[in-house]
Amino acid sequence: MSQKTWGGRFDGSTDARVEAFTESISFDKRLYRHDIVGSQAHARMLAEVGLLTAAEAGQIVKALDEIGETIEAGKMEYSISLEDIHTHIERALIAKLGDVGRKLHTARSRNDQIVTDVKLWVRDALDDLDGLLKELQKSFVASAEREQGVVIPGYTHLQRAQPVLAAHYFLAYAEKFQRDRERLADARKRVNVLPLGAAALAGTSLPINRESVREKLGFDSVARNSLDVSSDRDFLIEFVFDLSLIATHLSGWAEEWIIWSTTEFNFVELPDAFCTGSSIMPHKKNPDVLELTRGKSARVIGCLQQLFLLLKGLPLAYNRDLQEDKTALFDAFDTVAGMLSVAAPLVAQTKLRRDVIAGRIEEGFLDATTLMEFFIAKGVPMRSAHEAVGKLVRRCEQDRCRLSDLPTTAIEEACPGIGSEIRNVLGVANSLAAFKSYGSTAPAEVERQLRGWQERLA
Ligand code: ARG
Repeated sequence: MSQKTWGGRFDGSTDARVEAFTESISFDKRLYRHDIVGSQAHARMLAEVGLLTAAEAGQIVKALDEIGETIEAGKMEYSISLEDIHTHIERALIAKLGDVGRKLHTARSRNDQIVTDVKLWVRDALDDLDGLLKELQKSFVASAEREQGVVIPGYTHLQRAQPVLAAHYFLAYAEKFQRDRERLADARKRVNVLPLGAAALAGTSLPINRESVREKLGFDSVARNSLDVSSDRDFLIEFVFDLSLIATHLSGWAEEWIIWSTTEFNFVELPDAFCTGSSIMPHKKNPDVLELTRGKSARVIGCLQQLFLLLKGLPLAYNRDLQEDKTALFDAFDTVAGMLSVAAPLVAQTKLRRDVIAGRIEEGFLDATTLMEFFIAKGVPMRSAHEAVGKLVRRCEQDRCRLSDLPTTAIEEACPGIGSEIRNVLGVANSLAAFKSYGSTAPAEVERQLRGWQERLA
């Protein structure tokens, strides 16, 4: 008898080169646990509807547990002639149970089996990622707490713009990763629809109970259209998109801290344990972890492209192309999980170089916009105030001084009657204290937001 599950129709054996070309066991073996759980639910349901006896289902469930143990012990023998993990497990079951094992695949196809396994796997991956993202958020929130009161330059175009509290800066990343967590939770809704029971593509003439399988496997609902579901990989594109956006957030942050760790900026002291040295230059401390975080994001985005290209030309329903979805899925997940697991401790152990930051905080006219807003509050039309402060800045650049170094009379020219009150407006500390709006860097506002994050992440 042929080793192949589909051997009956074929004369002679498959070319060895074809076996090597078409195998997926090398990468889908990591689905074994989900494949076993899915098969056990299927077997129990088959017994409920009379397609297996209760005793047969019991034997199958037990044998599948033993096969799981064999795999976990590293004792499963894999062969490309058995193509994939699903066939390996079924063959092992038949080796143990004979004809009873030959009944498991009743009313099931690998097409609905595989997508069920992948959905079960993605569900676990979603939980793992949520935990990793939360750890990273905690690191940013802890940094916000530690660096409370520290003022840093805020940038646009990487040019000095307005002063912000360091805590405000760290909490900005907590927000981004919160949206990532929410996106994953939303993707879960589409993941959690049961495909099993679609069989090959059209359903089955056998009296299965999909609702029972749904309940056993913890899915929220049963997929309505068998043709759709056996070809559906939308949930993978969504998931890998979410991973790509996490990677994009991490990459932007990494780029920022690479810049911040240069001698030119010197804003952060990266932990030694997360840096590497040079084989020739004894003084070097390189931010390789951050660089690889930036670099690996390309790979994740590449996986997303791969999935789009894979799916864009596929007619309904199952096509073998779909086997290629798993390499992109696993690679994207592994890469992002790796990035997150080093990002959290790196953030936690990085300290701001407060002295360096404070030493140059009055450079770059960080107080110019607040000065303009002060003029506006005094009744000067916005465009006139903008122009007047622009001229004052130009004068400072010529005189190589700060706005706070200008004589009061020079400022009065721009806003008549302003007087010495102006001294409470200029300079970074005054500028920062002037903020008021919801979501701004106003100290009371940032303090409130920080408390909110601490409660949410507790
Ligand atoms: N190993 C394949 C995959 O992962 C299984 C192919 C199942 N279906 C089929 N009709 N050949 O997609």
